[in-house]
Amino acid sequence: MPFLDVRDLTLHYATPRGPVRAVDGVSFAIEHPGEAVAVVGESGSGKTSLAAAIMRLLPSNVAAYTGQVWLDGRDLMPLAKEEFRKSVRWREIAMVPQGALNTLNPVMRIGKQVTERPLLEKTMTKAEVASRAQSLLEMVGLPKEVLDRYPHELSGGMKQRVAIAMALVMSPKLLILDEPTSALDVSVQAQVMNLLKTLKRDQGLTMLFITHDIALASDLCDRIVVAYGGEHVETGGSEGVLLRPKHPYTEKLIASVPKLKEAAQPEFLPGAPPDLVSPPSGCRFAPRCPRVFAACAKPPPAFTISEGHVARCWLYQT
Ligand SMILES: Nc1ncnc2c1ncn2[C@@H]1O[C@H](COP(=O)(O)OP(=O)(O)OP(=O)(O)O)[C@@H](O)[C@H]1O
Ligand SMILES: [Mg+2]
Repeated sequence: MPFLDVRDLTLHYATPRGPVRAVDGVSFAIEHPGEAVAVVGESGSGKTSLAAAIMRLLPSNVAAYTGQVWLDGRDLMPLAKEEFRKSVRWREIAMVPQGALNTLNPVMRIGKQVTERPLLEKTMTKAEVASRAQSLLEMVGLPKEVLDRYPHELSGGMKQRVAIAMALVMSPKLLILDEPTSALDVSVQAQVMNLLKTLKRDQGLTMLFITHDIALASDLCDRIVVAYGGEHVETGGSEGVLLRPKHPYTEKLIASVPKLKEAAQPEFLPGAPPDLVSPPSGCRFAPRCPRVFAACAKPPPAFTISEGHVARCWLYQT
């Protein structure tokens, strides 16, 4: 059984227009501890909602929340709210939320923020908490003086490192990172990516890395899940997805990345992402797809292209 197994996960939000199908039957796996899997997709494709569904951090207007999430052989969905909060959230699955660097408490010293969770949970003595804070800071490449500083005294990159340290405080089995580098300029982005690579290599950290940037995803992650309109449209090894994309959406996503050394202009993807209240009844990408044909009027199942590489596209029906 995979280390993280997400099966048919669904999260809909209630709105006056009808349910928003932000996560609509998503399945994917992280096979082994230490593996990094990326979820890639454009804005509004349901990436943050997928993270929220896995962390069970749900807003009040949930219309549907179903499916299965297995972590390390344990079925999480049947757990009662309180049990999930106590034994899973932050302890086994932690998250660096989207825009985390802007959510640090401005009037609390970094040291206190990093270790707030274990103190709240009263699982460590004060001395243990202090030494944990120091080792976490070291792990994310910050000098220990930072513990005594306030957020406004830190750069964006330093704040993002603090946010990563905060998520790691309980030594989670799985770390979800929601767009951890989007708010950073390119050189700082590279530093944070290097930190994540180091954590993966040296600590064997298992990661679910959420991004709109397929190039970043393939650089860090072993596997890529491409999300479109609340669904997953292609899943495979990073190299396979990047070099031999199968789904027309993935092809377009890759073609839209500017390339330094080639004369070819980046392509634009015409049209808009589907309205998640009333998405197309067949393939959700069909209205924008250059290779659309009659079969696309029905929703495509996942077709296996090669071992571990699947695409939900009728082009691959055998
Ligand atoms: N609480 C909510 N109620 C209603 N609709 C919501 C709610 N939260 C998110 N949505 C909608 O769900 C869809 C998916 O949003 P989500 O934030 O998961 O996308 P995303 O892929 O993370 O986008 P981004 O790249 O901009 O962060 C969007 O259409 C969004 O407007
Ligand atoms: Mg998001």
